[in-house]
Amino acid sequence: MRKKIIAANWKMNMTVAETESFLESFRLEIEDVTGVEIVIAPPFTALAKLSELLGGSQKIRLGAQNFYFEKSGAYTGEISATMLRELFVKYVIVGHSERRAIFGETDAIINQKVLAAHASELKPILCVGETLAEREAGKEKQVLETQLRGGLAGVTPGQLLDTVIAYEPVWAIGTGKTATSAQAQDAHAHTRAVIAGLSDQATADKVRIQYGGSVKPANARELLHQPDIDGALVGGASLEARSFAEIIKAGGEE
Ligand code: 13P
Repeated sequence: MRKKIIAANWKMNMTVAETESFLESFRLEIEDVTGVEIVIAPPFTALAKLSELLGGSQKIRLGAQNFYFEKSGAYTGEISATMLRELFVKYVIVGHSERRAIFGETDAIINQKVLAAHASELKPILCVGETLAEREAGKEKQVLETQLRGGLAGVTPGQLLDTVIAYEPVWAIGTGKTATSAQAQDAHAHTRAVIAGLSDQATADKVRIQYGGSVKPANARELLHQPDIDGALVGGASLEARSFAEIIKAGGEE
């Protein structure tokens, strides 16, 4: 049984003050929630404050949106795994489609980040997903396989168990268009089959695969109850405490 993992990717949103007020409301909203792992990935500037406010909470885990794979040195503008670990960050999002498209991250760079995350005991959330043009050309499975094989090269089966995959079709991100539950389930089952090919079926059966792309309270329940959907990576709807909490509750219900 895979425990659901529902994560907020705040992207370039939320000041420190907004983070504090979010957390105050959010904690009340999720008081009764059990059985779901909750992650918040704020911008770097709010990580220290959120870390302090969470105080090592088991209920809400801290995530980062990115990092650089080198240990330290002359990398202006970058953040290392050690810096994240110092703040008790547990998860780090790697290879988000915005990082691929806007900042030029390749599968090779993403792979270095996945390996460096594991070397520092950070759990990577590896994002994969096809563009609209790739889906319309019927290439979505091929794209997923290339991104998974590239991103996960050299990752051991043991490390795979500490890796979360996020399937995020690019055409569904921030567009209000969600993959249908059948489209998402199909992509998730394919993702699991690729992971089984990279390791073995028993390992693949334990790896959690999140769906991301316009997840909202209204569509969360159906998505989160597909057999191979083990959570959500939520952008826009995670910026508001109540809507993020409603998505989490939808994942907890049977
Ligand atoms: P939206 O939920 O805003 O579509 O963003 C999804 C996403 O990119 C999460 O990483």
